Amino acid sequence: MPPLKLEMVDTDMKGLILSGGKGTRLYPLTYTRAKQLIPVANEPVLFRVIRSIRDAGIGEIGIVTGETGAEVQDAVGDGSRWGVKITYIPQDAPKGLAHAVQISRAFLGDDRFVMFLGDNVIQGGISTLIEQFAASDWNAQIVLKEVENPQHFGVAELNADGSIKQLIEKPANPPSNLALVGIYMFDSNIFTAVNAIQPSKRGELEITDAIQWLAVRQYRVHPYVHHGWWIDTGKPTDMLTANEYVLREVPVEILGEVSPDSTIGAGVIVQPGAKIINSIIRGPSIIGENTIVENAYIGANTSIYHDCTIRNCELERCIVLEHSNIENVPQRIADSMIGRRARIGSASRKPVALKMNLGDYGQVWLP
Ligand code: TTP
Repeated sequence: MPPLKLEMVDTDMKGLILSGGKGTRLYPLTYTRAKQLIPVANEPVLFRVIRSIRDAGIGEIGIVTGETGAEVQDAVGDGSRWGVKITYIPQDAPKGLAHAVQISRAFLGDDRFVMFLGDNVIQGGISTLIEQFAASDWNAQIVLKEVENPQHFGVAELNADGSIKQLIEKPANPPSNLALVGIYMFDSNIFTAVNAIQPSKRGELEITDAIQWLAVRQYRVHPYVHHGWWIDTGKPTDMLTANEYVLREVPVEILGEVSPDSTIGAGVIVQPGAKIINSIIRGPSIIGENTIVENAYIGANTSIYHDCTIRNCELERCIVLEHSNIENVPQRIADSMIGRRARIGSASRKPVALKMNLGDYGQVWLP
């Protein structure tokens, strides 16, 4: 039998990832960390985006960065880890997605490219989309998804023949339930469009206005309706939902130590160096490298990142970031995001009272 030939699709396209912005809806976590570096299923969302672009056969990727540029660069490096070449494109302020395209002209040249928002998580890869676009004479391809709350997104209204009638950013009265997913494909005509439009009422150069500019001038803008799940991880609840979906996709491996008195359910991933002692873990869940879970219950849809200690407590549907300690908590902690180096414990001395050092914009819900 001839050896299996693994060929990468070579599309000659480039990738552009948007990793600037402020991430205000994820405060307080994004006070101190780039929103795109928050992990779901113990992998930063941005890394997942890089992998999807690489898996679609694209080897040159530009990353637009903002205030958190140094941290993003530190975490991602030159891209060799994924076999891609990364170029960083600093944006002086979050002036809009179309502004990010404008400032990336020197990197993109006249090549066709895919733009992927660094905080979007989508089911499946983008290989088919890229192949379709690379082989077409379309000037742009947009990805749409039916949603229940279109007023929070860029929205597309289609004509009866499936072509685009109009695109509007966060409309008060949405003309359809088709939201624009944060993945777009363009040829170099997009530069004419982004240079022609004016900032919107919120002061941003909107990519929806640029695509609308192309569509009304008879450029070929192809709408593709995505049927899998898609999460724009703007808010903490979106992160928890994305975590839930992605956990179901990660291959199960038990690489850490599990004591015989522990029960590990289906779909649980235990990363190298983790220790599970006298605990119950329900899947899908992931326990990060060098994390200790002792006398604890970890319910489904929980991701605990590396170097944490979880002892004498119960967690369910949570994301816990690295180096955090949660010990001796009498009530179950659920539906929560816990930042880096956080400490949750019980007071060892009287007075018995709730005591907190809570960061700016922090939130606590008592039962
Ligand atoms: P948004 O979610 O629209 O903006 P944001 O990240 O500032 O979040 P918030 O509304 O909570 O303050 O951005 C989508 C993605 O695009 C995100 O990964 C950040 C990135 N982005 C840029 O790189 N440059 C920009 O000018 C803008 C507006 C966003």
